[in-house]
Amino acid sequence: MKEKFYITSPIFYPNAVLHVGHAYTITVCDAIARWQKLSGKEVYFLAGADENAGKVAKAAEAAGNDIEEHLEAITDAFKDLYAKLDISYDQFIRTTDKEVHWPGAIALWQKLVEAGDIEKRTYSGLYCPQCEAFYTEKELIEGKCPLHGIELQKLEEENYFFKLSKYTQILKEKIESGEFVVLPDTRKNEILAQLERGLEDVSFSRPVKSVPHGIPVPGDPSQVMYVWCDALTSYMSAVGYGRDEEMFEKWWPADIHVVGKDILRFHAAIWPAMLLSAGLPLPKVVMAHGFVLSGGQKMSKSVGNTVDPLELINEFGADAVRYYLLRKIPSFEDGTLTYDLVKDAYNGDLANGLGNLVSRVLTMSEKNLSAPVMPEANTIPEAFIEAMNRFDLNRAANIVWERIGELDKKIQDTEPFKLVKVDEEAGKKIITELALELYTVGRMLNPLMPDTSKKIKQLVKANKKPEAPLFLRKD
Ligand code: MSP
Repeated sequence: MKEKFYITSPIFYPNAVLHVGHAYTITVCDAIARWQKLSGKEVYFLAGADENAGKVAKAAEAAGNDIEEHLEAITDAFKDLYAKLDISYDQFIRTTDKEVHWPGAIALWQKLVEAGDIEKRTYSGLYCPQCEAFYTEKELIEGKCPLHGIELQKLEEENYFFKLSKYTQILKEKIESGEFVVLPDTRKNEILAQLERGLEDVSFSRPVKSVPHGIPVPGDPSQVMYVWCDALTSYMSAVGYGRDEEMFEKWWPADIHVVGKDILRFHAAIWPAMLLSAGLPLPKVVMAHGFVLSGGQKMSKSVGNTVDPLELINEFGADAVRYYLLRKIPSFEDGTLTYDLVKDAYNGDLANGLGNLVSRVLTMSEKNLSAPVMPEANTIPEAFIEAMNRFDLNRAANIVWERIGELDKKIQDTEPFKLVKVDEEAGKKIITELALELYTVGRMLNPLMPDTSKKIKQLVKANKKPEAPLFLRKD
């Protein structure tokens, strides 16, 4: 029996098409999913859309669209992007799906009620419609949303509350002991500091009259579930919670939730508290990555500094975009992306670097070796394995390009194309080594640049030089 590995991407708001910041998140998930598969695990990779958010309905209205058609069109655009980026997801969950998602959301709500953790209260608070979250006065920056810098809405409502505060201490213990892993350490410390200050109970529903879309609260149709309560539950409903016990048993708990650092609090405090309340196992790891910046700020629709991933894919190809995201954006910190930076990386590291190496090695081997080389099993270096297992994709990609640099140097130092003419045996030996090492590069590229990986491995196995350069230089 294969070990299982369940990985989730955040489910994105379909209020607009995805930009490169979102493409980054899903690419990180995909690289991890492919790596785990390559390491022999049975992988389940969840993607999806968070459709019951107030801002999603507003975007549809503003565009003058019927909400269902709008959701259909945008989620189709998400899937189109994933296909073009070679994202190997297994399921795309939509939170408007009454068969797949709603039974799980309702079942979990009932568990929270049974635990005595849901309580009706009158509440007045400050709501950010961009974050879809309440803030307290002390969290504001100059009276505005700390993330979006916008004025908040003053809401006074009757809501159901989730008794989050109750779970402060136990969460702290589970994070500190490493039973529930938050990566990287900087984010773990951030969440521990929040726990140290104490968690406040959260409003977990909204009146249906102010938020018409959403999952009705069981037993009270005048209220719909708070969108984050609904959205987080999709990680379980997708794998059968509330409708397919066997599937749920097989996949839950998640092995990793990959998220951006802005939504860490939801995943490392609210979500595990909900699970503890329901008596369900916690996810093993929550990994928070940094932001893709553009013009020095987080790339986002509200700032207006977005880059369209499709434009980059059309120009440079999916693997080049994946390369940039995985190698040039540090895995646990912020990094910058602009069109020109992608182009420079493409020309430097892919056309001149990798592409050129593939041509050089295979031109020599096709000419001088009478048969293809025979790669051994398990040639991936330990340092690469270790980096991938730590989800440090950026480090792993650096290891591949260090190797590419070493192979270039080996060719330069030994000049095998000249050596074969004076000492055939010695020249062929070096060419064989180079072809085998190129195959290992191809193997390491599997999770990072799947198409390029496949091409390199096929060429080495056929002992053929590429008919055209793998990456054509762009001027
Ligand atoms: N719908 C919620 C997630 C619910 S998960 C149960 C949400 N959606 S989102 O569409 O706003 O963003 C989803 C993810 O995209 C977040 O992890 C966020 O960090 C990530 N990113 C959005 N812009 C980004 C960058 N500029 N850079 C990196 N990640 C970015 O939040």
